Amino acid sequence: KNKKRQHLLEILKESARFFHYQLRQEQHKSALTYLTDRGLSLETIKQFGLGYASPQFNELYEYLKQKGYSDELLLESGLFLSSKNSQMPYDRFADRIIFPIFDLSKKVIAFGGRVLDGSLPKYLNSPENLLFNKSRVLYGLHLAKTSSSSYFILVEGYMDVIAMHQAGFNQTIASLGTAFTPGHAKLIKRHVKEVVILYDSDGAGQKAALRAIPILRNEGIKVKVLQLKEGKDPDEFLKTHGYEAMKKLIEEAPVDIWFQVLHVEKKYQLSNPEEKVKFLQEIATILAESSSSIEQAIYIGEICSKYQIDEAAFKAEMNQHQGQIL
Ligand code: CTP
Ligand code: MN
Ligand code: MN
Ligand code: MN
Ligand code: MN
Repeated sequence: KNKKRQHLLEILKESARFFHYQLRQEQHKSALTYLTDRGLSLETIKQFGLGYASPQFNELYEYLKQKGYSDELLLESGLFLSSKNSQMPYDRFADRIIFPIFDLSKKVIAFGGRVLDGSLPKYLNSPENLLFNKSRVLYGLHLAKTSSSSYFILVEGYMDVIAMHQAGFNQTIASLGTAFTPGHAKLIKRHVKEVVILYDSDGAGQKAALRAIPILRNEGIKVKVLQLKEGKDPDEFLKTHGYEAMKKLIEEAPVDIWFQVLHVEKKYQLSNPEEKVKFLQEIATILAESSSSIEQAIYIGEICSKYQIDEAAFKAEMNQHQGQIL
């Protein structure tokens, strides 16, 4: 099993080199242009080992075959698909920009592949195998772990991580479209005690942030949430507003409780007394569930003053939820 692991790692490394080489070939200029048009420098492309899988469906297969790897291993690598009608396994990532996914020791363990146009699916990822377990991998962590920052910035996608690193935020990581898991939080906790969530500004991004908050808090990680108002994701924001604007927003990012409270606030008409009571009940529940009583003391004060709520009444409401399991 260890030998198989070793061989799979070799195959992925060879493939990553092959894809990177292809990206630099004159006949695949449109792939390189795609990346440079999106603002990536050659240095960044190299740093992240980006590549291109040519549209010729069995080029990589033949290249690896000639190096002596068996069909069984090649299929297990996740790079190929076999179909009944085609004689040979064909490249899963054909005609896509390639994003190698690295483990903490900078070994390639999987790939993501993006189309160059608007076709779907926009991204494909390697299937899980001996090397790749999505819920234990954070894209960019192999670089972020050496950052001197005391916190990580958690974004949604490949291009967000890459654009953030290029801009100078080398503490950025992503959970790659899959839901953020307790495994991810544990991984983060080994490096930092604070995370700034910076997901896409759409509804899906907000929902994902609300789900990630308790998972991070459960590991004792302090959470802040930055919601972009202009530009739909960090990559786009950086393009139009740049490093300084992003830095300012990160520094001013509200703590998770405030993100949750403001989210709940949107559901209610606070000028209506009955709705205000429901609002109060809902945020009392959120606060009661947040772990530290010191934090609670701070936020009760802030919330009651912002919404003009009587503190004693609010605390009484909270006590009803304290220690509640269901
Ligand atoms: N994703 C995926 N499969 C898809 C769509 C998305 O795995 N079909 C993952 C990718 O890791 C992607 C992330 O979810 O980077 C966020 O998705 P999205 O916001 O749609 O894409 P962007 O990262 O913004 O990609 P781009 O800027 O290249 O359009
Ligand atoms: Mn070719
Ligand atoms: Mn998105
Ligand atoms: Mn994007
Ligand atoms: Mn996005």
